[in-house]
Amino acid sequence: MSMSRAGCFVIVLVLLWCSPLAAASRPPAEGTGGAVASDERLATEAGLEILRQGGNAADAAVATALALVVVEPEAGNLGGGGLAVIKFGDEVTYLDFRETAPAAAHRETYLDKSGEPVPGASIIGPLAAGVPGSPTGLFELHRRHGKLMWPAVVEPARRLAAEGFAVSRRLHHGLVAKKDVLTRFPETAERWFPGGEAPVPGSLMRLPELAKTLEDYAQRGPEAITTGERAQAIEAASTRHGGILTAADLAAYAPVWREPVRFEAFGWQVASADLPSSGGILVGSAAAILDRLSWSEEPRFGAQRAHLIAEAWRRAFADRFLMGDPDAAKAGATELLASSWLDQRSATVDPMKASSSSNVEPWEKAVTIGDVNEPTDTTHLSTVDAEGNLVALTTTLNGLFGCALYVPEAGFFLNNEMDDFATAPGRPNLYGLVQGEANEVGAGKRMLSSMSPTVAWREGEAVALGGRGGSRIPTSTLQVLLNFWLDGDGLQAALDRPRVHHQWLPDQIFAEGDALSPETKTELEARGHQVTWVGSLAQVHAVRWMAGGQVESAVDPRGGGGASGVVRPLY
Ligand code: DON
Repeated sequence: MSMSRAGCFVIVLVLLWCSPLAAASRPPAEGTGGAVASDERLATEAGLEILRQGGNAADAAVATALALVVVEPEAGNLGGGGLAVIKFGDEVTYLDFRETAPAAAHRETYLDKSGEPVPGASIIGPLAAGVPGSPTGLFELHRRHGKLMWPAVVEPARRLAAEGFAVSRRLHHGLVAKKDVLTRFPETAERWFPGGEAPVPGSLMRLPELAKTLEDYAQRGPEAITTGERAQAIEAASTRHGGILTAADLAAYAPVWREPVRFEAFGWQVASADLPSSGGILVGSAAAILDRLSWSEEPRFGAQRAHLIAEAWRRAFADRFLMGDPDAAKAGATELLASSWLDQRSATVDPMKASSSSNVEPWEKAVTIGDVNEPTDTTHLSTVDAEGNLVALTTTLNGLFGCALYVPEAGFFLNNEMDDFATAPGRPNLYGLVQGEANEVGAGKRMLSSMSPTVAWREGEAVALGGRGGSRIPTSTLQVLLNFWLDGDGLQAALDRPRVHHQWLPDQIFAEGDALSPETKTELEARGHQVTWVGSLAQVHAVRWMAGGQVESAVDPRGGGGASGVVRPLY
């Protein structure tokens, strides 16, 4: 019996409807006066307010980051650190305001007498805190690139803290989820669990102590935090709970301008975070391996692309084992992005069969294979102004609410970034990452990161993006770029698409539930891959600029956060 043409049409429609090709996506926000993408509506609005006042992308980025300290205290921070990649005209810069290890930290800080890791020591409480880089880092970003006066850029955040903001559902849920750990610290319990409970979503939260800090910061710059009474209060709070962070550490901290990782991929120029982050090197080396393997010519949602991208990341992440603070790393962009090395790496990929991570060098010692935990907390923002200047800025406390200690006199949480060191080399950290000696704890060292703030451009067009999600940040950032560059996705659709992840160890492909069809999963398993489903892989926010001044802003639907915003002309 032959099927009617109408019947065929319906079947084709149904197939299209069910295929990822038909994935619906909301449009990105579009305007002409600049754009901001961040985790929180009130923070995005702070950035837009600054753009409307005539501020540039750097002013907007700092205003957004400071507003996140107020409305997203679980990740936005003055008690943590971050990285920013900036493109102003033809000038491309990279600001490293990553935390450093306190002067008293050493290789054995997180080990017991028998050399075993002390459970939780690098995660909970101020012993886990690195020296915050954000107070000086954000100030420095503005000093070099900002246009408005410093107090004007701080003002939206100060106002939010003083006048209050509506507690988001995400903040509420974060507090509830972490209540046990947070309430171990009376300072934290008093501020964030008044009457013993987390404030309900929508309730007005004022943070007068943070408003005061921001007021002083607006007047005096970072010294309002890194010296004097606040620095003493931070040291005292840390010491009370077994930490080693001192006021002297705070005063000695300095952000560093570095050269970003630069590479060309698929017709785009790219700048991303170099050491102390592995992010840009991972994005660059995986992109180069995929190019060599003609990845873009493979069918979009088939097993071959998933296989090759997993193999590319397996190799890129193996080299992460050699990375660490720029002064301690055993290899960096020069070695790992060299054509000869990328050729060699690509040549070892079997187009049909999974390699075993244990055969992918470096393999310096037997390592424990751990699970990748759900991502905890970090926050990314991207800004662009009407002139096409862009900032990609990722900032982190590492875990949700950092080390869980809130310093009342300062009005912010301290990070637990020390866990990003190989606190026990060869053992997996919070993100299941197995790291090498280059990243072992040492006074003054910067711990290795995966943050990947990235700017990419070609004639007449540029994007800024990055994300939260630990080791999944570089793999998500690259997939968004590939969707956008190669497969014709608009900015928002490029963020929405489901993703996969591989990080060398554990030797598994992690896939969002809708990233692979059952047939594709079966085929990957037949090739020797182990496939594990995960809820979501990182959250990426992005902005785009086009010749003529059109801008777009798009945010990741994962995780319930994200607010895009643009400045539209007022008619
Ligand atoms: O710097 C890093 O790589 C980590 N501290 C980032 C942590 C993170 O992204 C957690 N996010 N959700």
